[in-house]
Amino acid sequence: MNDGCGTGNGQAKAVQVSDGIYCIPVNLPSSQLFEGMWPMPDGVSLNSYVVKGEKTAIIDLIEDIDGEAACYLRKLASIDLRPEDIDYLIINHMEPDHTRWLPEFHARNPRVRIYLSSKAAKMLKSFCDIDTNVHVVKNGERLDLGGGKVLEFHETPHIHWPETIMTYELQSGTLFSCDGFGSFGVVDGLHFDDQLSLEQREFFLAEALRYYSNIVANFSTFVTKAIAQLSELEIKVVAPSHGIIWRANPQTIIEAYSRFAAYLKGPAEPEITLVWSSMYGNTAQLVETVERTVRQEGMPLHIHRVPDDLIGHVVASAWRSSGLILGMPTYEYQMFPPMAWMLDMFRRKKVHNKTVLRFGSAGWSGGAQRELDIITEKLKWDFLEPIEWFGAPRQLQFDKMAERTRELVARVRHACEQE
Ligand code: FEO
Repeated sequence: MNDGCGTGNGQAKAVQVSDGIYCIPVNLPSSQLFEGMWPMPDGVSLNSYVVKGEKTAIIDLIEDIDGEAACYLRKLASIDLRPEDIDYLIINHMEPDHTRWLPEFHARNPRVRIYLSSKAAKMLKSFCDIDTNVHVVKNGERLDLGGGKVLEFHETPHIHWPETIMTYELQSGTLFSCDGFGSFGVVDGLHFDDQLSLEQREFFLAEALRYYSNIVANFSTFVTKAIAQLSELEIKVVAPSHGIIWRANPQTIIEAYSRFAAYLKGPAEPEITLVWSSMYGNTAQLVETVERTVRQEGMPLHIHRVPDDLIGHVVASAWRSSGLILGMPTYEYQMFPPMAWMLDMFRRKKVHNKTVLRFGSAGWSGGAQRELDIITEKLKWDFLEPIEWFGAPRQLQFDKMAERTRELVARVRHACEQE
């Protein structure tokens, strides 16, 4: 039966979270780029929530790129609701993945009361040209919906924009955390952590790391602060706006995010990420030596070739690894451009406090190392002496590669054991 939700969007039914609380998820497919730039090989869900007391609130909306709104309306109708029936719209976060459909929703229900932070109110005007029936919430303020449902608002700036709040429902202990505790990956039929196999749970935790490192990492200090602040709440359910709802073990995702945020200051995991690129195979010749040596030393290794591998996966591996090995040649007196782009992304996403070894062909002139020093100036990286040579590598470089790789492994191990 065609339910209007299309492939990957499950049945056109709302998902009951608890008595009076529903999730209305829609999925964006893998063909989309998140934020217009991040590949999503397994898509992503946009989870909107309904809380029904005597009054009804919607918490966060969706993006309508390819008919997702039609699916959303079908799911809303499955619990006998239309946009016109909603009394309150809570906007935790103004980024368009949660608000792009808002003007259409608002056109159908201009009397809806909109609750949001003061910064979000300004964004609501600038992004959606809406400034009526708007209520700016204070930290800790409550909204009583009647019927035992009370919403409490918590300022959690920069998770992930500066205007962000999270909403906590007191009776059920549900935290509607928007981007916080979210992950990539569509949800289709399985919506809760207790429905997942071990493999599926690992998938969503890996997707949470990738989501975190790609989207939230820049604001890790704020994440650490927010998690400390939220620890005062009795959180029984974590209901993010991307990915799985954590109701059996909400601490699993809270602790995962806490760990991801701590990687900013290092050390991260006792693992190494090798990111390499090569024009004509001279830099590539040392990759096998790196791989063999790290494996002999018994340390986990993630290998990514640039520009072949998806940038989001490279950033995720680098974020979780304490050690980085970077292979890149010189290209026209500077760094090989795909690696310069990758390293600039590391800079933007604050891939800080790593122990790093660089190798690569200097071509006819050198120059990659000079550019690397400039790009990484503020990343607080602890560099080993680089391995660089003109033209093709000789036995000397293979020997040095094995020796310095062992040294890197030892330093990473030592740093992680000190923690
Ligand atoms: Fe899911 Fe920052 O938006």
